[in-house]
Amino acid sequence: GLVNTKDLFAKAMAGKYAIPAYNFNNLEQLQAIVQACVETKSPVILQVSSGARKYANATLLRNMAKGATEYAKELGYDIPIVLHLDHGDSLALCKECIESGFSSVMIDGSHLPYEENVALTKQVVDFAHSQEHYVTVEGELGILAGIEDDVVAEHHTYTEPDEVEDFVKRTGVDSLAISIGTSHGATKFTPDQCTRNADGVLVPPELRFDILEEIEKRLPGFPIVLHGSSSVPMEYVRIIEQFGGKVPDAVGIPEEQLRRAAASAVCKINIDSDGRLAMTAMIRKVFAEQPSEFDPRKYLGPARDELKKLYMYKNQNVLGSAGKA
Ligand code: G3H
Ligand code: 13P
Ligand code: ZN
Ligand code: NA
Repeated sequence: GLVNTKDLFAKAMAGKYAIPAYNFNNLEQLQAIVQACVETKSPVILQVSSGARKYANATLLRNMAKGATEYAKELGYDIPIVLHLDHGDSLALCKECIESGFSSVMIDGSHLPYEENVALTKQVVDFAHSQEHYVTVEGELGILAGIEDDVVAEHHTYTEPDEVEDFVKRTGVDSLAISIGTSHGATKFTPDQCTRNADGVLVPPELRFDILEEIEKRLPGFPIVLHGSSSVPMEYVRIIEQFGGKVPDAVGIPEEQLRRAAASAVCKINIDSDGRLAMTAMIRKVFAEQPSEFDPRKYLGPARDELKKLYMYKNQNVLGSAGKA
C-alpha cells in the first residue's frame, strides 16, 4: 500500500540521498514513474497538483496511484510509494485529499504573512496527524521566483534561517520546503542572471547553499524539500526546437548542484518540467518523422519510454535513490 514520508526521509537523511517527487497527470506519466522506480529499486513520491486534479479528475488520479502499488508488485518489486498533494492551498483541499487516501500533503502557505502561514499549516498538521494512518505534512517558507499556485513572483524571497526553527516547532510539520534559488518551469533564471558557456548555453548562478547550511544548523536532522529542481536538459530542448517547438531562455538547475543538495538534509527533490520536456521532445519527433501516425499509443508510447529513461537516470545518477527501496 501507500506509505507516508516519515521512514523514507529518515533513511534518506542517514544515507545522504533524496527521494524523487515526480508529478503525474495521466496514465503514461504514472507508468513511466513506476517502471523507472521499480527497475532502479527506488522509493518514490507521486505528486498530484491541483491542476492535475482538475485536468484528470481527482477520483481517477487517486485510484491510479493506489493501483500503482499493485502495479509495482506485478512488475516484480514492491517499492514504497507515497501519494502526495503538491502545493495544497487550503485546509479544505488538504482535508479532502487526506480523507480520500493521500499519505502525504503539502500545505503551501509561503505567500501568506508569516503568522498566517504558521496558523494554516498547523491546522493541516493537526488534522493530518490525528488520522488513523499518520499523514505527513510538508510546509513551505520563502517564495520561489516564477509561477507558483498562479502567483507570479518577480524575485526569489529566500527562506529566512531565523524563522525555520520557530515555524517547525509551532506547526509540527514533517518536512520543510525552502527557497534557495530554484524555481518552477523551464526558465529558472532570466538570461541577465546567467553567464554563457562556449556553446552559447546559459549558465545559471549557483543555488544559495550558504542558506541551506544555515537552515541545517537550525534544524539538525530535519528533512528539507527542494521544489523547482528540474535540470532542463539541453538535449530535449534541442529536439523540441529541431522539430518546430520553442523553449525560450531554457535553463535549469545543474545536476552537480542537485547531487550536492541530495547529499545534504534535502530529502525530497521535486521534478516535473524535465518530464514535460522529455515527453514533448519525443511526441514532436514522432509527429515530424511519421506524419501519417494517428494512433495515440504510437506517440505516447515513445514519450513514456523516454520519460522512464530520464527518471531511471535521475534516480541512479542525480538523487542517489536507486537501490534504496
Ligand atoms: O509546482 C508545479 C508543478 O510542476 C505542478 O504543475 O500545477 O501545472 O500541475 P501544475
Ligand atoms: P520543476 O518545474 O523544476 O520541475 O519543479 C516541479 C515542482 O516543484 C513541483 O512542485
Ligand atoms: Zn513545486
Ligand atoms: Na539528502
